Amino acid sequence: MIPHTERHGVLRYTEIMCGIIGYSSIEEKKPVEGILLDGLRSMEYRGYDSWGVAIATKKGVFIEKKIGPISQLNSKPIDSFSLGIGHTRWATHGGVTKTNAHPHLSSDDRFVVVQNGIVENFIELKTKLQTLGYAFKTQTDTEVIVHLIHLELQYGKKNLHDAVRSTFLQLSGRNTFVVMDRETKTIMAIRQGSPLVVGRSPNSVMLASDTLPLLGKMPEVIFIDDNQLVEIHAAKIAIYDAKTGKKILFEAKPLTQKVEKIDKAGFDHFMIKEIYEQEHTIIDATSYSEVELLPAVKKIKKARHVYTLGAGTAAFAAGHIARFLREINIFTQELRAYEAASYLSLIDKRDIVLVVSQSGETADTLEVVEFLKKKKVTIISIVNMIGSTLSRLSDLSYLSRTGPEICVASTKAYTAQIAWGYLLAQSIIGNYQQAKKQIQDVSNKLHHYFQTKQNQQVLKKLAKKLVTAEHFFVLGKEQHFYSALEAALKIKEITYKHIEGFSAGELKHGVIALIEKGSYIFGVVGGEESKRNETLNALAEVKARGAIVVGIASEPSDFFDIHIAVPDGKELDSITKIIPFQLLAYYLALNLKNNPDKPRSLAKSVTVK
Ligand code: F6R
Repeated sequence: MIPHTERHGVLRYTEIMCGIIGYSSIEEKKPVEGILLDGLRSMEYRGYDSWGVAIATKKGVFIEKKIGPISQLNSKPIDSFSLGIGHTRWATHGGVTKTNAHPHLSSDDRFVVVQNGIVENFIELKTKLQTLGYAFKTQTDTEVIVHLIHLELQYGKKNLHDAVRSTFLQLSGRNTFVVMDRETKTIMAIRQGSPLVVGRSPNSVMLASDTLPLLGKMPEVIFIDDNQLVEIHAAKIAIYDAKTGKKILFEAKPLTQKVEKIDKAGFDHFMIKEIYEQEHTIIDATSYSEVELLPAVKKIKKARHVYTLGAGTAAFAAGHIARFLREINIFTQELRAYEAASYLSLIDKRDIVLVVSQSGETADTLEVVEFLKKKKVTIISIVNMIGSTLSRLSDLSYLSRTGPEICVASTKAYTAQIAWGYLLAQSIIGNYQQAKKQIQDVSNKLHHYFQTKQNQQVLKKLAKKLVTAEHFFVLGKEQHFYSALEAALKIKEITYKHIEGFSAGELKHGVIALIEKGSYIFGVVGGEESKRNETLNALAEVKARGAIVVGIASEPSDFFDIHIAVPDGKELDSITKIIPFQLLAYYLALNLKNNPDKPRSLAKSVTVK
């Protein structure tokens, strides 16, 4: 947990995933519980250990909380107003218990609070509140917010607005929180660090951590900035500067995002659905016209140096994009956000940083971007989630348009962003049309690959064999060096097996010592002939030491014990060759009885530094 302070000259971010929602309507007897639950379900990827809703009723605040995935309520609120809030949790302070699940009720039963973030001066505030007689029922840091608001109302501020603001000013850390007051039938929310959007329709208002719950319900959206307080009463919205208290003029934008049904569309898991979607998502991500790409093309052409930036899977996509740019003779260095510090003093306004992220909310990435923005470095981003912090911080922002990626392990965002990066790079050298054709060709190949049942059968068979294996390695070269890293990450994340990705060239420099008789070694073989041969030679060496060699390749080879045939994606081989690994990770996770959509200890884009 890092305080919201400068460290090594870099602003530290701490974004804890959780999903928050609020709903208010002028229509009486709106089934608020259904609206809140649907909204939470669409944000469940943000946190899925426990959840809860609170609904204002004539008699008091109805609250129900549960452990596990969003399900149904056990009871129905009686005589409810059209006013409620909800939360899906990813535990940080306090274990996964019903008591710790949000919303948290004030000691006078008047208001409830949900929070996304960390109160970093929690201990200090808790001690102060305890001295004043407040008894803590939970282990959460959120409870200090509840008691502080209560304290302010009791002994200082006359109204909730001032009490909420004054509470916010006492918190350190990045805290976005929502308060629902039964007495005034008002919802208040302050954004600090974690995202907050507000949807508006003529009769109702909905606030949430992202736009997904709003789709199809709210025709307009307002993106809330840090330090802004939103006050919602019936269907009215007012926004204030949370620090000064001054009212802010705001603009609602049409919510044009396609209504995405957050369902598995007949698949058993989101992961497999998202893997299969890739034949289309690489096309959607590259549906930008040449004119739309032109501003990025111009900036890159003018830049002294280009850097690509991302974290985890997004860093590997950024690696591929950097390579596409180097291949057209543009000096480009890929950076992993958490290892970027030593580069930061070298980057200045003559440079471009191209940032890759699915969520656009990753703390490691955002902190680098924020720092570079202060140095007036131009930021271009490719992000999947609409209205993200990263998109809004960027000078030029593009969307990968894959639709929501719900499975925690990233699949379709990765390949979509690679495809977009390729189109951008090729546009710089005037090859836009040809690149579009190449991407279409890869999409056709993927279609055929997914339609051929035998491809799945081979992988399912292999996944059975791997259940008892302990260590695996993936070797790749050039573009497939990043593929090897991504393949290993995918398998690690959802199977919990030990697997490492290496450059095939690194083998002789140490890695080979790990190879034993019966070790499974995957080789990603593709690209230019000389590179293919280097990988094949590395595989020959491990085979000679008794390893079982699995070749992920378009052509068979004598060095393979098992050949996983994959179409040759040519310049975009990084897209086709990652698919079998995604599928293998999925089948292996199923064999190991793991939930591939919700891997242990991981949440989508959680960044706890
Ligand atoms: C891996 C995975 C993570 C993310 C990383 C960055 O499957 O999902 O490694 O890629 O946390 O997240 P974004 O792309 O949201 O910035």
